[in-house]
Amino acid sequence: MKLWFDTDPGVDDALALALILARPEFELLGLSTVFGNVSVETTTANALRLLTLLGHPDLPVHAGAEAPLQGRPRYATEVHGNDGLGGCAALLPPAACAAQAESGVEALLQASRIHAGALHLVAVGPLTNVALALRADPELPQRLASFTVMGAAFGLHGFSGNVTVCAEANIYNDALAASEVFACHWPALRVIGLDATQRVAMPLEALEPLRQAGPAARLLWQALQPYAGYYATRDGRAALVAHDATAVAALLAPQAFHWRRGPIRVVQGGLAHGQTVQDWQRLGQGDPQWDALPHHEVAIDADDELLSQLCLRAW
Ligand code: BDR
Ligand code: CA
Repeated sequence: MKLWFDTDPGVDDALALALILARPEFELLGLSTVFGNVSVETTTANALRLLTLLGHPDLPVHAGAEAPLQGRPRYATEVHGNDGLGGCAALLPPAACAAQAESGVEALLQASRIHAGALHLVAVGPLTNVALALRADPELPQRLASFTVMGAAFGLHGFSGNVTVCAEANIYNDALAASEVFACHWPALRVIGLDATQRVAMPLEALEPLRQAGPAARLLWQALQPYAGYYATRDGRAALVAHDATAVAALLAPQAFHWRRGPIRVVQGGLAHGQTVQDWQRLGQGDPQWDALPHHEVAIDADDELLSQLCLRAW
């Protein structure tokens, strides 16, 4: 599977990257970075260092958007640390290569043209790069084999948001971009939000062996300690919730999720900014605002055991 990875590393982005690079099913062609967990300068530097750490220093990294289409970025330093990697970025080896001159948006479009029909896009940060690529070339979706998004929350199992009570961080950070992306027809768009990712919680004891699994695994283990600590305090359980790795696992094991199909809208502005709503019951039928929208698959539940095993085997 030829992959393009749009990302804002980010501790769970790092775990997702490790999973991608560990699996023979994937051929990673390149990365575009985006602001999100921290600034785009930092997410780009982290992507380059992580690739060096994980033994793929030559993979191209293209810096993307530094701010949302509207409004200002909201970084998640309380979750990922000021450096985006739980205070461990400086412990990683220096990047062996620099970022490419071409922007993340141009590079994604270029890859979709070269590998038309065969490229699988995975986006695990704010959807700004993807929305900009769509604006620049509305035929992008027709050239993709599939599109997987980590983002959104639909209020199932009590998970309505993680940055506000109404919104998940990636969608909150660029609600307009998300709205434009969800309004578009994609060959196969799968949305893996908090309703699924929060169900996959790896007990921290299960991660202990990673400390002995080599220098790269040990650094990842170290980076995820403050991140896991944040979730332990918030959720009251000592477990790792690896949102972005869970979304990548959806490409390997879609059967490990329950899916629900329907159009998706995104609230912009006000108390519920960034809230996602899916009309799976078709209650909006007859309303042109709903009728105009394509239907997408949303993950509404996930097999904790199977997905934890998949994510952990990456190290
Ligand atoms: C998402 O937001 C970011 O903080 C994480 O990396 C993940 O992509 C979870 O809401
Ligand atoms: Ca992310």
